[in-house]
Amino acid sequence: MSMKITDPARFGRVAVVMGGSSAEREVSLDSGRNVLAALQARGIDAHAIDGIPALLDALRAGHFARVFNILHGQHGGGEDGVLQGALESLNVPYTGSGVLGSALSMDKTRSKRVWQSLGLTTPGFVALPRGADVHAAAKQIGFPLIVKPACEGSSVGVTRVFEEAQLDQAVQLAAKYPGDLLMETLIEGDELTVAILGREVLPTIHIVPKGAFYDYNAKYIAEDTLYLCPGLEGHAESELRALSLQAFDALGCYGWGRVDVMRDRNGRNWLLEVNTAPGMTSHSLVPKAAAAAGIDYQELCWRVLETSFREGA
Ligand SMILES: Nc1ncnc2c1ncn2[C@@H]1O[C@H](COP(=O)(O)OP(=O)(O)O)[C@@H](O)[C@H]1O
Ligand SMILES: [Mg+2]
Repeated sequence: MSMKITDPARFGRVAVVMGGSSAEREVSLDSGRNVLAALQARGIDAHAIDGIPALLDALRAGHFARVFNILHGQHGGGEDGVLQGALESLNVPYTGSGVLGSALSMDKTRSKRVWQSLGLTTPGFVALPRGADVHAAAKQIGFPLIVKPACEGSSVGVTRVFEEAQLDQAVQLAAKYPGDLLMETLIEGDELTVAILGREVLPTIHIVPKGAFYDYNAKYIAEDTLYLCPGLEGHAESELRALSLQAFDALGCYGWGRVDVMRDRNGRNWLLEVNTAPGMTSHSLVPKAAAAAGIDYQELCWRVLETSFREGA
């Protein structure tokens, strides 16, 4: 549980850490600038910091009381548990999930194993270490399938594969990113995403991209992607919200995040991944879900910052 704060001075000097060195650097800078402006507009003494090394220097010099983490991705991205461990060791409070939730969510394959073990539905998959026999794996999964890096975000390196002839190229693209690959059953149906804020599950969003799927272009550039929020009605909506919170809790996540889901033509939900430091750009999804719940962008940033106060801490 996070704490309800009314006085902006209670937060102290806040470092908004953004940018960094991951593949999602540019998206993070965009998110970070928006968050920074919102916090400042609410009277919070917030400052931008680019990347983990600069943040750690500033913290050791005693410049900040807490951290709003809006780094995306791994390897300097700050979404993978490394930053969280460093902050724990320095006793500095920060927004969002801790070491375990961050690290586990960053690894899609291991996230899926946890969900499977709890009976939470996730598309069938084969983990592909470097050099694995991808054609044998594809036989096991069957077409259509999807190939992605196991530990990236923003749809980078993700390809839908409808026939054997497209497979090698999809694998080559995904292999440009660090870490193992993941091959999954392609779920045909609707794409939904569910934002979590504190213990509250916000209204679901049904994403309707103009193109074939929700790729990097649809996420950050295109202006013609449709967002329906709430994405579902009645029981279907409450069922998906409940599943998303279960999925989030199962990975040890905390504070805020976003659960990505595919819903097949039979109305069955399939968990894809959890994002522990989701995008906060003008095109981003969490701000849209918050708006539908009557929470404006500034209030959303405030509430995320409140998650840096752990109850009893
Ligand atoms: N199993 C799947 N079936 C259908 N579409 C998928 C599947 N996995 C991923 N996608 C599509 O690819 C996009 C990116 O995949 P995702 O697993 O959410 O990775 P990330 O957002 O971290 O790049 C999704 O938003 C969805 O459009
Ligand atoms: Mg995703």
